[in-house]
Amino acid sequence: MWTVDPAIVSQAVGLLQQGELVAFPTETVYGLGADASNPEAAAKIFAAKGRPADHPLIVHVPGASWLEQWARDIPQAAWDLAEAFWPGPLTLILKKQGWVPGQVTGGQDTVGLRVPAHPTALDLLRLFANANKRGGVAAPSANRFGRISPTTAAHVREELGSQVALVVDGGDCLVGIESTIVNLSHQGVEILRPGHITPTQLAEVLGEMPNVRGQPSCGQEVPRVSGSLHSHYAPDTPVRLVASAELMEVVSHSGAGRYGVLAYQQAPAAMGNHAVWHCIPADPTGYAHGLYSALRAFDHLGLDWIVVEMPPETAAWTAVWDRLRRAAYRE
Ligand code: TXA
Ligand code: MG
Repeated sequence: MWTVDPAIVSQAVGLLQQGELVAFPTETVYGLGADASNPEAAAKIFAAKGRPADHPLIVHVPGASWLEQWARDIPQAAWDLAEAFWPGPLTLILKKQGWVPGQVTGGQDTVGLRVPAHPTALDLLRLFANANKRGGVAAPSANRFGRISPTTAAHVREELGSQVALVVDGGDCLVGIESTIVNLSHQGVEILRPGHITPTQLAEVLGEMPNVRGQPSCGQEVPRVSGSLHSHYAPDTPVRLVASAELMEVVSHSGAGRYGVLAYQQAPAAMGNHAVWHCIPADPTGYAHGLYSALRAFDHLGLDWIVVEMPPETAAWTAVWDRLRRAAYRE
């Protein structure tokens, strides 16, 4: 089990209090943290990431008891979801308290809140909340805007290097993709970003199936690649999604340059050196855990293509499909 020196956590909290940026691990991906009650500190996040100012940040708090500090008109569904899934990979969008800086919310009247399930993140948030009465750390994923989220401390250094005062190394992120985002700021419940916590799990707590933005319903079928999605979470190398049945056909043609293959089927016995094969687990949890680090590793090889074997199109794969579509999307 990975342990982080408490002295590093104290140092991180000291830096946050001084308005500096600190990258820290969560169970989903690494976050680029700043004191969420300090507009100048939050502004540094946008500068470091190269992120447009109207993109809101998620505020991380040490427990659900901090919800009322940041949000108002909190519906019962928010308390129920917090009780069921926090600490965990779920972000709740709620109406913000009047004092919450617009820099954090992208000028919106709502705020995203989450309690991460990583022991180091929780230690850091608790210690920070002892020192800061608002107790919130704004943290987007610790990558440059539009790039793949980092799942190790080395990824963060690679992305942001000297722009961060400190990178707290908490090992490899368990979940590997970003939190499920649920909007509770108006009537109804809507999933804005699919994640490890599935619509079915949410429905078990809510008593009804939430809507999923961009999808007609939460049925079993996941719609195919949508041209309207913006590129996000994208490696530099172009990504091509290929059906399982066509994979061998595609990789047997070496004329298309050098490529990486991300697949859950095994590499063929005889394969030329035009392809680098990376096997990924065939279950959604294992796949999500390995996805970003595999794409990042391919990027380092200077390949012409990344070929991804399409996973099944069932509800359990919704979050993985969301990231794959975005990785494959080109303007
Ligand atoms: O797992 C995660 O959520 C990670 C870790 C570090 O906690 N964070 C993360 O943050 O993925 P970021 O900034 O990369 O993605 C946050 C997403 C953005 O798409 C943003 O638009 C949305 O959350 N978001 C944040 N606040 C919002 C709000 N008030 N209304 C609508 N969307 C919001
Ligand atoms: Mg991000």
